Formats: sequence, C-alpha cells, structure tokens
Amino acid sequence: MFNLVLFGPPGSGKGTQSENIVKSYQLQHISTGDLLRSEVSRHTPLGTEAKKYMDQGMLVPDEVVIGMISSKIDETPDARGFVFDGFPRTRTQAEALDKLLEFKNTKIHLVLSLEVPEQDLIARLVNRGITSGRSDDNEEVITARIKEYHSKTEPVARYYNEHGKLERVPGHNSVPDTFKLLSKHITKYLLPVA
Ligand code: AP5
Repeated sequence: MFNLVLFGPPGSGKGTQSENIVKSYQLQHISTGDLLRSEVSRHTPLGTEAKKYMDQGMLVPDEVVIGMISSKIDETPDARGFVFDGFPRTRTQAEALDKLLEFKNTKIHLVLSLEVPEQDLIARLVNRGITSGRSDDNEEVITARIKEYHSKTEPVARYYNEHGKLERVPGHNSVPDTFKLLSKHITKYLLPVA
C-alpha cells in the first residue's frame, strides 16, 4: 500500500492534481472538502454544522473530519493506496491519521506540498468562483481560507518535515508540467499503471 498526502494552500491545485494521480497510479482519492460538500448538499446534520464553518473560510472541527476519514478508508480495504487531498489540515488531524493508518498496518509514505505564490492562488479561486457555484469562492472568504491555512495548516508541513516525509514541489506551472514534477517523486515508491 502507498499513501500520499497532497498538501498546499487553497487553490494550489490539490484537487486537480489528485485526479491525475489517482488515474495514473490507481489510488483511492479522499478529499475532505468533497466529502463535506456532499454532506452539505444532502442537508445532513453534519453538513448543516460544517457549512457554518465553510462559508466563513474556517476549518471544520477536527473530530468531524477525522470521523469522516476513518469510515472512508474502511470503505475500500483492498485499495492500492490513498491520496489524501485537503487532509490533514491541523497537527491534531495529522497525528490522528498516523494512528489510524498504524492500526491498519500502514503509514503515510510521502507528502507533496504544492508551492504557489499567493496572488496566483487568489486569481485562480476568484476565477473559479465565476462558474463553480462554491459558496466559499469569493474574495472575502478566499482571504479567510488563506489566513486559516497559514495559522493552522502550515504547522502540518513542519510535522511531516520533522518525520522526513515532506517534499516541496513548485505548483505555479501548467497542470501537465506540475503533474510531471509530482510524478518524479511518486515513482520512487510506485510505478504508474496508466
Ligand atoms: P477544500 O475543498 O479542501 O478547499 P481548499 O483547500 O480551499 O482547496 P481548493 O479545492 O479550493 O483548491 P485546490 O488546492 O484543491 O485547487 P484546485 O485543484 O481545486 O476545503 C473547503 C473547506 O472545507 C475548507 O475551507 C474547510 O472549511 C473545509 N475543510 C475541508 N477539509 C477540511 C479538513 N481536513 N479540516 C477542516 N476543515 C476542512 O484548483 C483551484 C483552481 O485553480 C481550479 O479552478 C483549477 O482549475 C485551477 N488550477 C489548478 N491547477 C492550476 C495550474 N497549474 N494552473 C492554472 N490553474 C490551475
């Protein structure tokens, strides 16, 4: 099993590159943002609670996302591995993920951090907001999401760096060029299938 965390600020390309990675390497994609948006659109109690945070660009409480991840991993016990996109976002989440994977006799093998200048992030997300229908893709909430990233999520990069798992990858190039850079790191662990 090979488990990858695709890390980076809002708009850095985690979702876009996850799609390419899961296709090429036949891994399971777990995006906490997608899982939460699905709960919101189905008007579940969890979704109603999460929406209050998401609409303000704040992180949803740790216990909510950790519970979601645990059941999502259990859905595909025979997976070749997982790409975690948008998770973990706090040190508490990172420690919980380590425990969860240890219990399943596996671990996080690699963390790839997409590095993109802040003005590019804002431009990408404002641009996506024109068509996405995402309630958090407007300039005010984007700014709050980036602030939340700096204060609560950046420490996660330090956590993985301390464990020797972090690789920083430039993410400001085109989607295919960025994918090539990410693949160079992944193929040290796993060969592409497609
Ligand atoms: P989430 O859905 O995870 O959003 P995010 O991290 O803010 O990231 P985005 O999906 O906006 O960006 P991305 O990095 O995936 O980039 P993308 O590929 O889409 O989280 C949303 C909310 O849910 C959070 O604010 C929080 O409230 C909650 N949440 C989620 N997970 C949580 C957790 N673990 N704990 C607590 N709360 C949680 O690309 C963005 C745009 O750029 C697209 O239009 C794309 O086409 C474009 N683009 C991508 N790559 C390139 C490129 N190379 N060149 C040009 N354009 C590009």
